[in-house]
Amino acid sequence: MQCLLEAPGEEDVFSPQPERVAIVTGGTDGIGYATAKQLAKLGMHVIIAGNNDSKAQEVVRRIKQDTLNDQVEFLYCDLASMRSIRQFVQTFKMKKLPLHVLVNNAGVMMVPQKATDDGFEEHFGINYLGHFLLTNLLLGTLGESGAPGRHSRVVTVSSATHYVGELNLDDLQSGTDYSAHAAYAQSKLALVLFTYRLQALLTARGAPVTANVADPGVVDTDLYKHVFWGTRLVKKLLGWWVFKTPDEGAWTSVYAAVSPVLEGVGGRYLYNERETWSLEATYDPELQSQLWARSCQLTGIADVTQETFGR
Ligand SMILES: NC(=O)c1ccc[n+]([C@@H]2O[C@H](COP(=O)([O-])OP(=O)(O)OC[C@H]3O[C@@H](n4cnc5c(N)ncnc54)[C@H](OP(=O)(O)O)[C@@H]3O)[C@@H](O)[C@H]2O)c1
Repeated sequence: MQCLLEAPGEEDVFSPQPERVAIVTGGTDGIGYATAKQLAKLGMHVIIAGNNDSKAQEVVRRIKQDTLNDQVEFLYCDLASMRSIRQFVQTFKMKKLPLHVLVNNAGVMMVPQKATDDGFEEHFGINYLGHFLLTNLLLGTLGESGAPGRHSRVVTVSSATHYVGELNLDDLQSGTDYSAHAAYAQSKLALVLFTYRLQALLTARGAPVTANVADPGVVDTDLYKHVFWGTRLVKKLLGWWVFKTPDEGAWTSVYAAVSPVLEGVGGRYLYNERETWSLEATYDPELQSQLWARSCQLTGIADVTQETFGR
């Protein structure tokens, strides 16, 4: 096991990031919106990837106005559709921009049982497989845009819910005994396993890219719109006290995206801008490898880890 990172100090105010390009999925609301805004404030060219065209135009306008940064744009990407993800990547690549930061932030929680366009259970499909495919399709650009001493970064937003998650390799789509909570937890666990496997791949290839997990804590957003009404009531009454604001929730993602403390450092689980341990099972290379292989099958991409690790 690696040593825990030093906690960030008071002096950890981030320097401007001009000429850096970031993609933030789900940047139209909640933590993603706050992340996109904070990165734009640092001078980054920010591309918001989302599936809500009408909302996005107002979001982009507001971020430009608040940050005085004109390089904020929206590109359509529905993570519930592999076709849409591929289309997004193609459109992005046609812009001939580098890519220094990819924030895999979008998510749904506790949604009723429903399938994505490709027939995947929604939590697994949108939260996990969508980001798995997106990241893999952008890995080449991330690698070309990074350099020793200035790595590109993949930041994947998971949740403390992953600690109670179980990966059911025989039923990744939660087809039997559907529980929305278990499906959400599984998707968030899969994102952690994916990040560690990705980091192992990047390290083995000597790629100038790092991958870390950001856990935002409990944040007052619309993510809770599908939870039990009693929980929503408690959130309404005590939210101000118990929950972080979206700006506070975004801070760990921003920290993972730009902090100099994390230059060249990957494979970490970050919470409150500090490294902490994730669920023990997430460090199991066999489980990471099995999930990766299955994800390649499901998304129809080549398993590049096979040629690197020989399995
Ligand atoms: N809030 C918390 O307490 C908490 C705690 C731990 C982890 N997290 C994680 O933080 C991340 C952000 O959540 P949040 O709290 O900010 O929730 P949110 O306010 O509901 O925002 C979710 C974002 O994801 C987008 N999205 C949903 N489905 C999509 C799809 N099919 N394709 C593209 N984008 C899609 C939403 O787009 P629309 O604009 O269309 O809604 C929205 O922008 C999630 O991954 C969540 O699991 C949140």
